[in-house]
Amino acid sequence: MTKYVINGGKPLFGEVEISGAKNAAVAIIPAALLVDGVCRIDNIPRISDVTMLLGILRQMGARVSVTGRNAVEIDCSRVDRTQATFDDMRRIRASYYLLGALLGRHGRASVAMPGGCNFGGVRPIDQHIKGFTAMGATVNIRNGIVTAETSGHATGSTIYIDVVSVGATINIMLTSVLAEGRTVIENAAKEPHIVDLANFLNSMGADVRGAGTNMIKINGVKRLSGGSYSIIPDQIEAGTYMVAAAGAGGSVAVRNVIPKHLVSISGKLREMGVDVFEGEDAVVVSRDTPLRRTNIKTQPYPGFPTDMQPQISTVLCLARGTSIVTEGVWDNRFKYVDELAKMGGNIQVGGRTAIIEGVPALTGAPLKSCDLRAGAALVIAGLCAGGVTEIEGIEYIERGYEDIIGKLRKLGADIKSVYFPDNAELTARGAS
Ligand code: EPU
Repeated sequence: MTKYVINGGKPLFGEVEISGAKNAAVAIIPAALLVDGVCRIDNIPRISDVTMLLGILRQMGARVSVTGRNAVEIDCSRVDRTQATFDDMRRIRASYYLLGALLGRHGRASVAMPGGCNFGGVRPIDQHIKGFTAMGATVNIRNGIVTAETSGHATGSTIYIDVVSVGATINIMLTSVLAEGRTVIENAAKEPHIVDLANFLNSMGADVRGAGTNMIKINGVKRLSGGSYSIIPDQIEAGTYMVAAAGAGGSVAVRNVIPKHLVSISGKLREMGVDVFEGEDAVVVSRDTPLRRTNIKTQPYPGFPTDMQPQISTVLCLARGTSIVTEGVWDNRFKYVDELAKMGGNIQVGGRTAIIEGVPALTGAPLKSCDLRAGAALVIAGLCAGGVTEIEGIEYIERGYEDIIGKLRKLGADIKSVYFPDNAELTARGAS
């Protein structure tokens, strides 16, 4: 098993370059299924979720070429399959976007119920199904497989989404782009990756308006043709490095970002006594005084992102006083606090609220990551703590952070990826 080993307690200094946005990439790659022609996509993050999705498209008959470190060409013109291997689909949450895209393109899709991050609680897709049904699809779920089918093309409709949902907004957009007539999504999510998907689709010939507001209008078009597109920087990866610098101390320039996407994070860091300077496409985060407490409630964009909650809660463990963190998006996203307790963190969780009593220091410990953002939070904890922290479950982290080890080492962190043979392997080696 490979673990991250961190010798913590060192401030971070230097520059870090942010990769393309994971949650935009995992929507844009399936959206290529709607396009007749070659999509050249740049600023693709090198992460395992992207590799898996590209593999799924290849299996379905798409021509996928990696043309640079962060560039791919995808041609789905010849894809005629409406499903892929279910086991692969189950491994990533975003495979549910194949449902919307295949339904829009072929009028039929069969997709395994999504897997993905394991932060507990149910991750329903009832709002996706409500959208597909309103557009004329019949949807069935049997043995963990969702099948959606229309007779002919999907038809435009007005759909009010009951809870603000990134996934449902994206899936309805994907189905509606080639549908007959106009679709209106009311109470739509406004995250930057929704705007990015709309920009991608429009650059290929779609007619999507209003992305970034709570009402998106899509006029169906006959066909999309190929083109070039560059994915926006990752808001959450940027926020993770900002919070890491706030926790460990030092001064870090976080480059290739859109500072407007980061205002909720910058604002909270300033309340905590951290200096945040916003440039045109960079933010500089510095701290050399003690951290102050604050309260945080996660909300859909432009609120404080739920995907930054574990990271900032970890740093609040080291702030003077009591902080209250309320999770406003997911039912159960505090599983990682048991790991922080092993380091001396003092967090009490009741329902969707965590009460964090700041402690003077955290100490290194063996930890286990249970999901992507919790894993990033444990890395930050290890950077802030005195002594050695070992983190297992790093496959979760590598689903969403490109070269996290290389980027942190460049900032002066003492972190490495170490392979530890298991008992069976040691026995076999001893015998040979
Ligand atoms: N919800 C429903 N019904 C639905 C869909 C969602 O009740 O049909 C509820 C969920 O239970 C949740 C809330 O609505 O309480 C928001 O869920 P949403 O659909 O917005 O989440 P998602 O699309 O499944 C995406 C990101 C998550 C991020 C959330 C919220 C991707 C691939 N995933 O998930 O990112 O936490 O939006 O912003 O875009 C991550 O990157 O680590 C991650 C988990």
